[in-house]
Amino acid sequence: MSDEALFQRTSALALEYLARLHERPVARPVEFSALLERLGGTLPAAGMAAGEVIEQLVTAVEPGLVATPGPRYFGFVTGGALPVSVAADWLASAWDQNAFSFVISPAAAAVEEVVRIWLLELLGLPSQMSMGLVTGGTMANFTGLAAARHALLKSVGWDVEADGLFGAPALTVVTSDESHISIFAALQMLGLGRERVTRVATDAQGRMRADELSATLARINTPVLVCAQAGNVNTGAFDPLSEIVPLVRARLPHQPGWLHVDGAFGGWVAASEQYRALVTQLDQADSFSVDCHKWLNVPYDSGLVFVSDRAAHYAAMTLSAAYYVPSPDEVRDNHNWVPEASRRARCFALYAALRALGRHGVANIVEHCCHLARRFAERLAADPQVRILNDVVINQVLVRFVNGGNDREADDALTAEVMRRVQQDGTCWAGGTTWQGQHALRISVSNWSTTESDIERSAKAILACLHESKSQR
Ligand SMILES: Cc1ncc(COP(=O)(O)O)c(C=O)c1O
Repeated sequence: MSDEALFQRTSALALEYLARLHERPVARPVEFSALLERLGGTLPAAGMAAGEVIEQLVTAVEPGLVATPGPRYFGFVTGGALPVSVAADWLASAWDQNAFSFVISPAAAAVEEVVRIWLLELLGLPSQMSMGLVTGGTMANFTGLAAARHALLKSVGWDVEADGLFGAPALTVVTSDESHISIFAALQMLGLGRERVTRVATDAQGRMRADELSATLARINTPVLVCAQAGNVNTGAFDPLSEIVPLVRARLPHQPGWLHVDGAFGGWVAASEQYRALVTQLDQADSFSVDCHKWLNVPYDSGLVFVSDRAAHYAAMTLSAAYYVPSPDEVRDNHNWVPEASRRARCFALYAALRALGRHGVANIVEHCCHLARRFAERLAADPQVRILNDVVINQVLVRFVNGGNDREADDALTAEVMRRVQQDGTCWAGGTTWQGQHALRISVSNWSTTESDIERSAKAILACLHESKSQR
């Protein structure tokens, strides 16, 4: 088979998958060991023809593919790649560019710079902010917090990149009780300690309480890193940035503050006039992270960090070696802003999505998903055995199923049973969570292609699972 025939056949197989995406069961139960058996054994000594490899791969993994890019996948916070971004991503594979630096891919350097300028404008952030394009929200948080660590320790005369943390002056990290797990993952990787944080209490929706933060900051006499969030992974609620910013800014010069905002999905509301008020004063953040594979609906893996102190960001990430070919100052070398050196040029997919959507298109995705999330909540709440646990401020809905009495354990068990049935049924997929001690089905509407009829169909299927669960009890 020629290379051309291989690529044509492969694109036909990809198109077949995409064509069936809307109708295939969203997920099916499958045994890990069964998948290993279909794929594995020992690596044969002899190779296999390329066309055959692709056919076998497609057949072998089929039962393990989940329709996460489809319109009725509501698990985690999951976007489905826009066709234009998939097409650009195919080109990224064919071009096989290394997005490391200008000299090895001028195209990837220029595209990242254009994406930086576009996104700062779209999100209403200061135009001088630096940007790193990383693999997702976790690494975006890591990079933002690394820049914070640099700046705060530098302010007390310590060069953390050169000297590490051994014997370093103290700094204090403040999170909320509801900070995302990836913040703690970043802290553990940065040597700041995931347990060595001061946690601020949250309100019933999971928002950091500004009065508690104020009292906490008053007790701290070191430089301080405050981690706020725009979009709670369960409720979608936003920390009150307009109250948090002045508290962080009011620090004494020898006890400076850095505000990092984790906006993995919620950050995209900044693109919408209707929802922008939820992130008032986001432009005052020192660092801000946002995921593109979530609500922007581009292929994995794609996350961004923006940092207002470019020098701190650069110092925390840059490396040099004799064989590196540095570019002149006005030219972007992508590796200076991220933890990696060589990497895939995922900027092409991002550029394509932004160019195809324009400012209005990004806002439309946000507004459309929020509208559908409210519909979903209303539709489910019409059943007397359903409770919606959160204020549906954006795209997240927490659903609990109740028996009618006041038996928390029985309601937990019913909710778990409904979830099990929903996941087996395959009409849609949603995961579980525990919110303030209560088990809940967690729905995130984040896909550009979800329609009202997908919501109707999914709500019907969920309620059918509820009624089947009841009748079995
Ligand atoms: C608020 C928040 N931050 C960070 C992350 C981590 O993002 P990623 O899975 O892309 O690393 C998530 C993922 O859901 C999130 O909701």
